[in-house]
Amino acid sequence: MVSARLTIDPQFAVGPVNPRLFGSFVEHLGRCVYDGIYEPAHPKADASGFRTDVMELVKELGVSAIRYPGGNFVSGFRWEDSVGPRDQRPRRLDLAWHSTETNEVGLHEFSSWLEKVGSELMLAVNLGTRGTEEALDLLEYTNIRSGTELSERRVANGRAEPFRIKMWCLGNEMDGPWQLGHRSADDYGKIASRTAKAMRQLDPSVELVVCGSSSAQMPTFGEWERVVLTHSYDDVDYISCHAYYEEKNGDLGSFLASASNMDHFIESVVATADHVKAVKGSSKTINISFDEWNVWYIQRFEQIEKIEGIDNWPTAPRLLEDAYSVADAVVFGNLLMSLLKHADRVTSASLAQLVNVIAPIMTEPGGPAWKQTTFFPFALTSKLAKGNALEVKLEAETYATEVYGVVPLIDAVATHDADTGSTSVFLVNRSQTEEATVTIDVTALRGVIVLDAQTLSDDDVYAKNTLDQPDRVGLSRNKSVAVRDGIVELTLPPVSWTSVNLG
Ligand code: AHR
Repeated sequence: MVSARLTIDPQFAVGPVNPRLFGSFVEHLGRCVYDGIYEPAHPKADASGFRTDVMELVKELGVSAIRYPGGNFVSGFRWEDSVGPRDQRPRRLDLAWHSTETNEVGLHEFSSWLEKVGSELMLAVNLGTRGTEEALDLLEYTNIRSGTELSERRVANGRAEPFRIKMWCLGNEMDGPWQLGHRSADDYGKIASRTAKAMRQLDPSVELVVCGSSSAQMPTFGEWERVVLTHSYDDVDYISCHAYYEEKNGDLGSFLASASNMDHFIESVVATADHVKAVKGSSKTINISFDEWNVWYIQRFEQIEKIEGIDNWPTAPRLLEDAYSVADAVVFGNLLMSLLKHADRVTSASLAQLVNVIAPIMTEPGGPAWKQTTFFPFALTSKLAKGNALEVKLEAETYATEVYGVVPLIDAVATHDADTGSTSVFLVNRSQTEEATVTIDVTALRGVIVLDAQTLSDDDVYAKNTLDQPDRVGLSRNKSVAVRDGIVELTLPPVSWTSVNLG
């Protein structure tokens, strides 16, 4: 039996939980848009062709802002293709995913879908094959009320009110050799700075995200951030982080410790941004937009799924359709905990992605939509994590991993909402064999009761929800939880994620 102790005290605040931490990402990739959120022939499609069953699941997931339209896709995207009369929109090659983009769903349609699901739009501009001028054109189209060529074009296309988009990504993963228009840190830092200045000249209220490294494993990681921010520090608000984790070579122990690597990644980027701040003598702080994070079996994509062939450009192919296990969901919930632990600096994040493509929601054409295992920790965390994130002063046993060194067997973070008096604790047990007994000192909360405790676990850590068995895995009430004399005690099964809600 593993044991751990933690203390919850609203005085140990890390920072406010920004609702934008619970963002997601919709890319024109595979079946995320077509046959995902949009399927006009589906019996549950609304008059605009959007699946209402998917919309209901997106609302239940509690997604705040959605990054769009890519991803690698955006680096070859011509935004003008995606607006105006649908029957005149061009079909284009999508070089990023070797597919055909029909442009049937574009900026207006996606924005109206966002209004239906109650999420904010976070838009990326193409700094791969395009540059400052096209970014300005798009911003004029979306954010200027009327009276100019491009704002009037938007009005003529049926949208009288401007979209007034606040969050903008200055390209995508420009450090990656796979990226169309990939650049050196120096070249990208310069164009990002120029584009950011120009965009602010047009609309000073925009919030701008400059590209950080596409992963901490990139050979330029660290130096990329330093150089890019040296060029653009005064012009941007956020630097992006991207991270994907997968179980490799059957090493579940290391995989379960992925969040400790994410902690380290965030802290390294914060240190680099603050180094540039110090060198510049700036009083401004750059925060992190962790705008791609998830479990992703990239090896499977590289080895099996990649599409090739000069005459082979399918529309909405099945790509990156990972089916997630219980172990994946435990790691996933732990990654969300890592974001919460750094809420003072990670003020925006996007789960990559939302539907069908490495997604918490899956669909079958003409058939059902269902929840993957990862749906559950996201939906509960976005619902419960309000107010301030709290450091929990964790004391736990450790274990050695092949990849990430020695890490705690238990991980935990809490949030406290002073307005409602509600406190939530999120925990994982990384042990593959042992239950864990956790004691939580809540004396500082003065007489709280346990409102609910939910656990995700299974005897088969590789159990999944599939088309044939859509409800195989779900949450169950953790009946072990009890509170007495200011101490909450509960048991966590091996390889599990748990939330406890106190009020
Ligand atoms: O989310 C899938 C892909 O991962 C994105 O298009 C890209 O930005 C990243 O490499």
